[in-house]
Amino acid sequence: MLDTGAPLLKNFWYLVMPGNQLRAGATQALTVMGEPLLLGRDRDGRAFALLDICPHRGIPLHYGSFDGREVTCCYHGWKFAPDGRCTEIPSLLPDQDFDISRIKARSFPLREVQGNIWVYFTDRRDDDGGARPPPEIVGVGDGPPLTSISQTFPCDIDQAAFGLMDPTHAAFVHTSWWWKKDARRLRQKEKHFEPAPLGWRMTRHRLPSEHRAYKLLGSNVTTEITYSLPGVRIEQIQGERHAAASLTAITPVDGETTVVHQSLYCTLGWAGLIKPLATRLAHVFLGQDRDVVVKQQEGLKHQPTLMLIDDADTQAKWFYRVKKEWQRAAAEGRAFENPVKARTLRWRS
Ligand code: FES
Ligand SMILES: [Fe+2]
Repeated sequence: MLDTGAPLLKNFWYLVMPGNQLRAGATQALTVMGEPLLLGRDRDGRAFALLDICPHRGIPLHYGSFDGREVTCCYHGWKFAPDGRCTEIPSLLPDQDFDISRIKARSFPLREVQGNIWVYFTDRRDDDGGARPPPEIVGVGDGPPLTSISQTFPCDIDQAAFGLMDPTHAAFVHTSWWWKKDARRLRQKEKHFEPAPLGWRMTRHRLPSEHRAYKLLGSNVTTEITYSLPGVRIEQIQGERHAAASLTAITPVDGETTVVHQSLYCTLGWAGLIKPLATRLAHVFLGQDRDVVVKQQEGLKHQPTLMLIDDADTQAKWFYRVKKEWQRAAAEGRAFENPVKARTLRWRS
């Protein structure tokens, strides 16, 4: 039996947007972790995140304007710097003694890593997320991804996470003429897993050498997949000449809606040429995952009892246990003890 209900985990970095979707001098309003955010990028290219609520009388700041330096509230014209400091209150007279430096719109720690914007959510004033920075993929450089896509799933973060680590749906869900997995011809799989920081890892193993796409990376192509809280999957494919990687990060809008972000990286110099194709295929794949979740919601709204079976759903069980342990450790003020033990999982897919 599975008792989900997906509390939103604080004290984590969440991927909120691919960096190329935020132009210099622009702002965008969005909801993440149930909080209204105003994301912006100043004229010098630095991104920032403010709570999208004016500290004066509460109107969303996105109704105001941004000149590339300061956000101006639409109601009484108060101005705020990208770090949230109030810089001007138009109604004040020069001789009125009022210290505007005490006023601050709430700002959120933000980092841009390998072309994606991450925002840190915490309840602790002194915590800027520096102790555990956003994940970085090794071996693919600092540059932006070849392609980044995002789709909104009408489900909570647990259901979205289970989808990421579900090895047996592909033959039934990812059926396209160019990627035909035949459900009647399932093959036995056996993969080794070990604990990883705040999650686990499918250990590095060889990929089938007959696959043409893998050959582009050189010989001896291997892969490793890491899953970690709050919902990040990183696959690193390494050949003798080149590397490729995919990052999937799930970000709650609120308790019922989750955005799935996916970025693909590749060190092949000419990979840019296939960007439109890669983007299209990524959308089709993720769209298939989304379609099945939309259908699943028709059943889930009746709150059925669900089950996770071994070994196909063992990773989903791990996710659940890792998450629970993280919450328990935080509540008890002790160190996290990874409940995942190294083991081999077997399934047909
Ligand atoms: S509500 Fe924003 S300036 Fe008054
Ligand atoms: Fe899938």
